Amino acid sequence: MAVPVADDIFWVGVNDLKTALFEELWPLPHNISYNAYLIRDEKVALIDTVKKDFFEEFMAGIRPLLPKDQKVDYLVINHIEPDHSGALESLLRLYPDLCVIGNEKTLHLLHEFYRFPVKTRLVQDRETLSLGQHTLEFFMTPMVHWPETMMTYEQRSKILFSGDVFGSFGELSAGIFDDEVDWDLFMTEARRYFANVLGKYGAPLQKSFLKIEKLDIKVIASTHGPVYRKDPARIRDLYARWSRHETEEGVVIVYASMYENTKRMAETIARGLTENGVKEIRLHNISHTHLSFILGDIWQFRGLILASCTYNTKLFPPMEQLVSFLENDHVEKHWLGILGSYSWANNAIAALRSFAQKGPWKLVEPVIEAQSAPSDEVLTKCIELGKNMALQLHNVPYL
Ligand code: FEO
Repeated sequence: MAVPVADDIFWVGVNDLKTALFEELWPLPHNISYNAYLIRDEKVALIDTVKKDFFEEFMAGIRPLLPKDQKVDYLVINHIEPDHSGALESLLRLYPDLCVIGNEKTLHLLHEFYRFPVKTRLVQDRETLSLGQHTLEFFMTPMVHWPETMMTYEQRSKILFSGDVFGSFGELSAGIFDDEVDWDLFMTEARRYFANVLGKYGAPLQKSFLKIEKLDIKVIASTHGPVYRKDPARIRDLYARWSRHETEEGVVIVYASMYENTKRMAETIARGLTENGVKEIRLHNISHTHLSFILGDIWQFRGLILASCTYNTKLFPPMEQLVSFLENDHVEKHWLGILGSYSWANNAIAALRSFAQKGPWKLVEPVIEAQSAPSDEVLTKCIELGKNMALQLHNVPYL
């Protein structure tokens, strides 16, 4: 399928309704799109491709746009990860003279990934390439989220082809533009995509935003999710906020519980929050909710409470995984509450204390420990933790 985005510029992406886990990690309940774009001019250029399994569908969108003998001259690779470069080998069979446009790191990774001969052209930051009526300008934006990532701005249409940045989970079968899709769904999926894929790269993202700050951008065309033609500022603002770890008032409670004792403590904390005016509470049983969604919620809300039982002298394994992701992704600016339970080895709380001390968190007291089933005294402390977390959220700006 091809959809016009501007004069002689077309979305030629595909919708992936069969992959269950993006990067074999992140669930796709609303599927995903791989967006590519074709610019038809004296020279024909593709901006990115699609995952290799979708090559035929990709070409079915492209073929009707070009006269029979017209070739594709250039492929701009904004991001070489195979969900966007995977169709290259098949594309080269059709267009053996195709020239790949990329920066030094792109061309290095191109060789490392594919190891077949291909014509290339190296471009530098702010270099331009004329296609005839259209001119491409390249902006190097490294580490958002790979070292070679860059963006391409088409000067006539004022479209920014932004790679993964401003992207989202969710497929585009029903419409590709921001004014055609369910915004609430895509905003949630964009945040989850950000938290799962790009969140670790807040500083490089902010650098990239500065680099494109003065561009007159009419349309944002990312590699995943909607094309923003009605209100590109909306997704820019959200991404800017997320990259700065700006959050909303609310609390995510994540508990790991084998025999419902830690669950009872977590629910009691939720009660303490509710009684003290916190309305946005997300309570997750870590054994039942995929990490992907928990991270999305943590990126949304300023309060975080981690409650874990001890399992074989350590944190409960899924909680260990969450803690590892939080440390590795440099999640910041949260009020943190911790509690642990044990029967014979008091290790969960020690691990959570260590996590709390190492990270950029502000700890909310009390830290709670319970042996086996929570006593009345422990449950009173849970209410107190909920109340104290509510007070921090309501009254103390996070500086
Ligand atoms: Fe959509 Fe980083 O690949």
